Amino acid sequence: MVNIYLAGAGPGDPELLTLKTARLLAEARVVLHDSLVGAGVLALINPAAERIDVGKRCGGRATAQAEICRLLVEKAQAGGVVVRLKGGDPSIFGRVTEEMAALRAAGMSFEIVPGVTAASAAAAALPASLTRRGVARSLHFITGCDADHSLPAYDWAALARAGGTLAFYMGRKHIAGIAARLRAAGMEASLPAAAIESASLAEQRIIRAPLGRLAEEVMRAAPVGPVLLLVGEALAE
Ligand SMILES: C[S@@+](CC[C@H](N)C(=O)[O-])C[C@H]1O[C@@H](n2cnc3c(N)ncnc32)[C@H](O)[C@@H]1O
Repeated sequence: MVNIYLAGAGPGDPELLTLKTARLLAEARVVLHDSLVGAGVLALINPAAERIDVGKRCGGRATAQAEICRLLVEKAQAGGVVVRLKGGDPSIFGRVTEEMAALRAAGMSFEIVPGVTAASAAAAALPASLTRRGVARSLHFITGCDADHSLPAYDWAALARAGGTLAFYMGRKHIAGIAARLRAAGMEASLPAAAIESASLAEQRIIRAPLGRLAEEVMRAAPVGPVLLLVGEALAE
């Protein structure tokens, strides 16, 4: 019987949690959660459960991934419902591959419970569609921060050519570099773009600006919460 769940906490608003994850949190014996999981979601955890904050932020304090995997296996071996709760959807920039490998190596079965990813919450906040018939035929989930905290070296021209909507996760730190590379790759300065801070939460802020001014506007707004960047024609009002 499966009692280990790699579950998505969604973008922050507890009402965006799946019913399944809410039930698992209420039944949990142990919950290991990310730092981005907010108070509203954490409030749904069984009060008797052991809670472990294994939070990781790009460039910030980190529990090493190997230690998270070790803890997850240790807690899972002790029995009961164990929930590894990750912000958004576990399969999108959630390091779920390493945790699945650790569980498999320990001979333990598990289940992934999907969640609402930040890009969906950011689009809802605008509000906008992430795709648009005949205009934006693809959606690209991109990380703006590599393992060494640098801006990854993408084929920016290919991204520009694809003509889809670009959703940058962890892109706050390198926003100026991202915008400059997209412009250099041929994307118009007038292309619709937005930065959404703390999407779905009470402190949500929307910074809408064309690509050519996005970095400047975001720096002026100085967001402190998590930021999702969206770029593409689908966002046009
Ligand atoms: C490590 S990634 C995890 C993504 C997550 N698995 C998901 O599906 O949303 C963390 C990044 O997600 C984005 N993010 C997460 N929650 C967000 C929110 N409520 N509003 C805006 N961006 C968010 C930010 O770009 C943040 O740096």
